[in-house]
Amino acid sequence: MFLDHTSRGPALIDRHGRRIDYLRISITDLCNLRCFYCMPRQGVTKLPQADILTYEEFLKVARIAAGLGVRKMRITGGEPLIKRGAVKLVREIAAFPGVQTVAMTTNGTRLEKYAEVLKAAGLSRINVSLDSLRPDVYKRITRGGDLSAVLRGIDRAIEYNFRIKLNTVLINGMNADEVYRFIDFARDKGVEVRFIERMSFEDPDPYVPQDHVVATLADRYSLTPLPTASGSPHVRAFDCDGVRVGFISPRSHPFCDGCNKLRLTPNGKLKACLSSELNVDLRYILRRPHCDADIARAMSKAIALKPATGPWTACAEMWRVGG
Ligand code: 5AD
Ligand code: SF4
Repeated sequence: MFLDHTSRGPALIDRHGRRIDYLRISITDLCNLRCFYCMPRQGVTKLPQADILTYEEFLKVARIAAGLGVRKMRITGGEPLIKRGAVKLVREIAAFPGVQTVAMTTNGTRLEKYAEVLKAAGLSRINVSLDSLRPDVYKRITRGGDLSAVLRGIDRAIEYNFRIKLNTVLINGMNADEVYRFIDFARDKGVEVRFIERMSFEDPDPYVPQDHVVATLADRYSLTPLPTASGSPHVRAFDCDGVRVGFISPRSHPFCDGCNKLRLTPNGKLKACLSSELNVDLRYILRRPHCDADIARAMSKAIALKPATGPWTACAEMWRVGG
């Protein structure tokens, strides 16, 4: 890892020359939904409360990361909007010098209530996890979720002029036949859709490959590849008759080359790679006095652990890491 001082200020560069300028902060391992591909059927063991970073600890990590050149932060979970203090955290992080964008990934169930305050707090983008536009299928996938609440949340976020992306994990036999419905919905609402390949290492392994979805879309719409957005090297984007459609395809089109991310888990583990167990435990360091320099060093260490490509041998605990 190098700490480079470029004209844009300090920059974290990993051993493979990648500039790390994006931190995803998972502020809770808890969620009010139970998406079947995310949460194990038998439920999950909650992290002990004492292990979860405090509000001040999350802020400290974000502030130090911003000082090292991290420009984009994403608040995720679990479901971040069930955690008290989520809005305040957004407000404080957005105000750190160097932070250009604060985004959130949410399941949308509480967005109707929170869109207005999130806007005022300085949140600029929202990704809403939405796997079906049919109430019964949505309920099945989320093990009980109420689609109408999410749709109201999306409408409210549109009212407050958020840039919205839908995150949709396609699953054969469940929602894979809703591809056109999602495009029509996205056009109607003026939002972007992202189809995400399911990460699972179960047998059989039923992910819907990007090329299959692209072919399905090409049957009905005219598709034009779009340039990759600089902040999102992991997304391949197309214009689909005026709708921006992105693909996150860790299985069929791995995207490690441009990876610019670090991830912080609710209990303070800094992960350099979603698909790898390697991490640096910041919690112990955070709980020592005068730890700023040690935290910065630990971030460098995490970046040094960042593999050139992920091993993808184990499914990360998505409900804790937040994708
Ligand atoms: N594979 C792909 N995406 C997943 N997500 C959760 N679990 C998985 C998985 N196994 C997605 C959710 C959400 C984002 C945070 O991660 O759908 O949009
Ligand atoms: Fe909750 Fe998101 Fe996991 Fe669904 S995918 S259970 S909404 S964390």
